[in-house]
Amino acid sequence: MSSFAPPAQATLAAQASGLLSGCRDRIANAANLAALLFMELPDINWAGFYFLQQDRLLLGPFQGKPACTDIALGAGVCGTAAVTRKTQRVADVHAFVGHIACDTDSRSEIVVPLVTLEQLIGVLDLDSPRPGRFSASDQVLLEEIAAIYLASID
Ligand code: SME
Repeated sequence: MSSFAPPAQATLAAQASGLLSGCRDRIANAANLAALLFMELPDINWAGFYFLQQDRLLLGPFQGKPACTDIALGAGVCGTAAVTRKTQRVADVHAFVGHIACDTDSRSEIVVPLVTLEQLIGVLDLDSPRPGRFSASDQVLLEEIAAIYLASID
C-alpha cells in the first residue's frame, strides 16, 4: 500500500518541477530537491545525492546526518543501483548484504539511479527509520522526481 495518496504524489512532483524550473545547475537543484523531499516525505531520516566521479560515487547535497563521502561502484545499496542502473528498494537494510550504514537509525532505503542519455551521473538516495517504508508507488513517484531532476539540469 502506498504511504502517499495519489493527489499528494502529484503535488510533490509538481512542487519539484516548480522548484527546479528557475535554475539549470545540478548542485543547486540537487540541494533544493533534497530539502524538498526531506521536508515533505514522512518518516525519512536521510535524502540526498551521490554523483559519479571517475570510478566512485561522491557525496552530493543532502539532508540528514553526515554520511560516508565515497562509495565504490557495486558497493552497498547506492553502488548496486549505480551498477545495475535499476532502482533498489530495500525493505530491510539489515537483510541487504553489503549495506553501508551511514546512520544506524536507517531501517529501509530506496536508491534511484540517475541516467541521462545512457550515461550514469549519480544516484538519488532516501533512508527511513521505518522498515518497509517505501512502497511500489513511492518508487514510481521517486523515479518520476528523478526524471524531473535530470530534465532540470544541463
Ligand atoms: N546506505 C547506503 C549508503 C549511503 S547512506 O544511506 C546515506 C548504501 O548502502 O549504499
